Amino acid sequence: MKHTVLIVDDEQKNLKLLEAYLLPLGYSILKASTGEECLEILNKEKVDIVLLDVMLPGRSGFEVCAQIKDNDKTKFLPVVMVTALKEKEDRLKGIDAGADDFLTKPVDRDEMKARVKSLLRIKDLNDKLEKSYGDLEKTEKLKEDLSDMLVHDMNNILTNISLTLESISENKNIEPGILEDLSRAYAGSRELIQMAANLIDISRMEENAISLKIEKVDVGKLLSKCAEELKELAKIDDKEIRRIIDSKGVILVKADKSILKRIIINLLTNALKYSPEKSAVTVRAGYLEDSGMKLSVSDPGEEISPEFQETIFGKYEQLEARKKGIRGGKGMGLYFCRMAVEAHGGRIWLESNPGSGTVFTFTVPGK
Ligand SMILES: Nc1ncnc2c1ncn2[C@@H]1O[C@H](COP(=O)(O)OP(=O)(O)OP(=O)(O)O)[C@@H](O)[C@H]1O
Ligand SMILES: [Mg+2]
Repeated sequence: MKHTVLIVDDEQKNLKLLEAYLLPLGYSILKASTGEECLEILNKEKVDIVLLDVMLPGRSGFEVCAQIKDNDKTKFLPVVMVTALKEKEDRLKGIDAGADDFLTKPVDRDEMKARVKSLLRIKDLNDKLEKSYGDLEKTEKLKEDLSDMLVHDMNNILTNISLTLESISENKNIEPGILEDLSRAYAGSRELIQMAANLIDISRMEENAISLKIEKVDVGKLLSKCAEELKELAKIDDKEIRRIIDSKGVILVKADKSILKRIIINLLTNALKYSPEKSAVTVRAGYLEDSGMKLSVSDPGEEISPEFQETIFGKYEQLEARKKGIRGGKGMGLYFCRMAVEAHGGRIWLESNPGSGTVFTFTVPGK
């Protein structure tokens, strides 16, 4: 590929001289005699390197160089400042303006050849890097879109499976042993649906594409629904979900009902999964002193180590934790909870101590 060199000098004879040096090397040459003209050309043409005279009428070479480096479109374009001045101060000014290299007048042909060649080599590498980065970003986006699509389709299929299992289990003539298997399969399918929903919402929240459907939610009713949905999972290890509603049993909060439900389901699922057999997990909702709601989910399981507590709400932290032997699943649940709580303007945290189990608490502001 033929490179294009833009020479900027107010004296015709200098332009001619540099052109005469460069043409035999196979470059295309563009010429400008003022800084304004140089910037105009850069705006229209594809240029690979600029040889820029320092002493120009109007805008000085330093100013033009600074402008080139200030523009996102041209900031990686190599600029060689051509100066009659040898003084250190001018070089410093040039470096300050972002110049990549210097040539002193009268320009030595071999020196110029070597400098231009080396800067063009760096520019080519930089162009390649930028292109690969752009390609990578496109592939990454494509992969994300594809996995979003797959998760969406998976979600529909899983919902069908779960509904089918539910309706089969309602048949009175089923043997108890088979009913138990069915209920395990049902609990598994509900968990997969929850995972798919987490994945879908995480990618929407990361792109800021989620809009909350805020309405008045009766938290007591919501907790009954959550407990009902997790009934089968709780049954597996003979666990119990206790619900406590402060404030005379009625809590109303402004929130996105389905997202709020999924935060609670995630926390309850964790409490059920990470506590010993026959445990009771407790979900408790109350009003905050000023306004808004506070909801906590506690279980009597093993404590979460202090180091893990610090990273537990991060994305895919669980994958790291798993390498260190901490048990668990995909590690999407708490990341989803944090993003969803923060989207509501609330906060989420945990307390976990040896002997007293683990409590996850979050707030939703505004009654
Ligand atoms: N109540 C809890 N008691 C003890 N450990 C917990 C509790 N809740 C979460 N953890 C730990 O934190 C990790 C991260 O939880 P998170 O809900 O984010 O992911 P997960 O349960 O592993 O997978 P999933 O994406 O299916 O929810 C868990 O794997 C577990 O090690
Ligand atoms: Mg979880």
